[in-house]
Amino acid sequence: VNRDECRADGDVETGIDPKRSSCLGSSDVSVTRLGLGTGPASRGLTPTEAADRLAATVRHALARGISYVDTAPAYYEGASEEVLGRVAREARDDRLVVSTKVGRLIRPTHGDVVFDFSRDGVLRSVDDSLRRTGLARLDVLMIHDPDDHMDQAVSEAYPVLAQLKQEGTIGAVGAGMTSAAPLARLVRETDLDCVLLAGRYTLLDQSALDELFPLCEQRTVSVIVGGVFNGGVLAGTSPDRFNYGPADPEVLARTHMLSSLCAEYSVPLKAVALQFPFSHPTVVSVLSGTVAEQRLTENLDLLGVEIPPELWKRIRESGCVDDRAPLPES
Ligand SMILES: NC(=O)c1ccc[n+]([C@@H]2O[C@H](COP(=O)([O-])OP(=O)(O)OC[C@H]3O[C@@H](n4cnc5c(N)ncnc54)[C@H](OP(=O)(O)O)[C@@H]3O)[C@@H](O)[C@H]2O)c1
Repeated sequence: VNRDECRADGDVETGIDPKRSSCLGSSDVSVTRLGLGTGPASRGLTPTEAADRLAATVRHALARGISYVDTAPAYYEGASEEVLGRVAREARDDRLVVSTKVGRLIRPTHGDVVFDFSRDGVLRSVDDSLRRTGLARLDVLMIHDPDDHMDQAVSEAYPVLAQLKQEGTIGAVGAGMTSAAPLARLVRETDLDCVLLAGRYTLLDQSALDELFPLCEQRTVSVIVGGVFNGGVLAGTSPDRFNYGPADPEVLARTHMLSSLCAEYSVPLKAVALQFPFSHPTVVSVLSGTVAEQRLTENLDLLGVEIPPELWKRIRESGCVDDRAPLPES
């Protein structure tokens, strides 16, 4: 990868090119502006059902120039990693860039998942991921949800990842979480290339702006944003759910206000929700979370929806969006 070619240019977006690539931190791994997230969402699919759909969806993503896919050992009990490995090997020209994670082990006998951020647990997880994917190198490896294991994540998990990066077994080191504050601690105390933040830089929650994003900018840590629909409430699929739990009335009221504003301009709320995070200069990639091909196609189309500057202005004036959040109109 030529680093000069894949530097995030940091300007405010006027049109979003989902295929454009940016390097992660100081690594040579480059990810597309739109990525595919393969976490189990609302569909309740079995691992086999998910694997069947995912293979077609990833091939479709590649055909549309989207080459970055996020997974984890726990997603569909390892089936997501297996599929991504198969498609990456099939593609041969190394176009697929996969991020996967450490911190949970799948017990072979029961298929259940246990947290483990110890040195041995992390090494075992990496071996399992290499075996499941059949890949010789993992592009991006992230510490996954260490909320209740922060000290061990810093003192044991991170050093293993740094060593594996030095040896070339992995390309970039990151951490993926659903809260901004613990990720900020990891950015401060380790040397990450990227963070994956889910549900905290959206139209409904911009807590990433308090500490995490400024720190990432200072320390050249690239941000990947997931959960842009806060688990479904902003996409209309799970209207009463917020971040994988019940939505409180205040969140529902703000969603309703945003939805009414969008309706005035005949723009789907989900287009605004998906496009919003792209304007922040530290965000290099935004994940579209789905295993369904037609959803990915729809989300690519939503990136092409023109949002009138007047609508962004009204959203700003509504108070839903923090003054520090860059918008295309500003
Ligand atoms: N700790 C971590 O590292 C962490 C945590 C959370 C997420 N992530 C990553 O981030 C990715 C994205 O997060 P997410 O999947 O939880 O959140 P999300 O993108 O906010 O929500 C996905 C949900 O929105 C629905 N959806 C997607 N596009 C839609 C559309 N155009 N119209 C209607 N509904 C639509 C999906 O439905 P269908 O399922 O029916 O398509 C799914 O229920 C995950 O897949 C995962 O890779 C990482």
